[in-house]
Amino acid sequence: MKNTVLTFKKAKEDGIKLSMLTAYDYSTAKLIDEAGVNSILVGDSLGNVMLGYEDTISVTMEDMIHHAAAVARGAKNALVVVDMPFMSYQTSVYDAVVNAGRLMKEGRAGAVKLEGGIEVCEQIRAIVNAGIPVCAHLGLTPQSINAFGGFKVQGKTEAAAKKLLSDAKAVQEAGAFAVVLEAVPAKLAELITKELDIPTIGIGAGNQCDGQVLVYQDMLGMFCDFTPKFVRRFADIGSIMKSAFAEYDKCVKDGSFPEKCHEYTVNDDVLSKLY
Ligand code: KIV
Repeated sequence: MKNTVLTFKKAKEDGIKLSMLTAYDYSTAKLIDEAGVNSILVGDSLGNVMLGYEDTISVTMEDMIHHAAAVARGAKNALVVVDMPFMSYQTSVYDAVVNAGRLMKEGRAGAVKLEGGIEVCEQIRAIVNAGIPVCAHLGLTPQSINAFGGFKVQGKTEAAAKKLLSDAKAVQEAGAFAVVLEAVPAKLAELITKELDIPTIGIGAGNQCDGQVLVYQDMLGMFCDFTPKFVRRFADIGSIMKSAFAEYDKCVKDGSFPEKCHEYTVNDDVLSKLY
């Protein structure tokens, strides 16, 4: 069944958990979609896991559109949520609406996601008023990594916890249909989840959130540059890929691949005409 923002709303009402995974290409999106995951996030984490940057700052609108369109072609039932990259919405409400529109029109997104609380509520309101669903993102928001001074758990002090709670209420009030909570203490995420009518999607925010999201390369053991504490490895695909690549290398070099069964044939009389 097709997942939409209404699926998110109903899941919150009925207490049903929501699953979300990132994807950045057609074949992975198709596998995740066929597995029944509710939503695919085309995260700007593609800067890290696909493009090899050390953060998400350099990711462009063109990068997001290119990968979103590929994912959208592979996702039949999952709701495709696409990240608005750094400086595509912070600069003005006008930029935010235009760029959210591009992600929908050119990237075929089903919704967009942007980082921040009260300071981006005007943008959220304007994008929602343009008919585009918005997922908010609070806590450790990677586009603000330079302001945070590193990848640090958020909401640990009384002031920070109060700010997170009021940001969560503000983005809900501005019209967000869901909010991602990243690297937030579990008890605080639980409290925010109870206070909101829209679903919270946790990543490093404990199991009382309404749903969970992970970067697929992290949960498959395919990205080992850095593994956050909150990641569970559901498979070790990285090792399987590495040994398959090594086996391929060996077989090409010792001549055991390709075999007869991999060859195409041609009539001998065609060949004889060539000599
Ligand atoms: O870009 C991303 O993958 C994200 C998730 C970590 C939530 O924003």
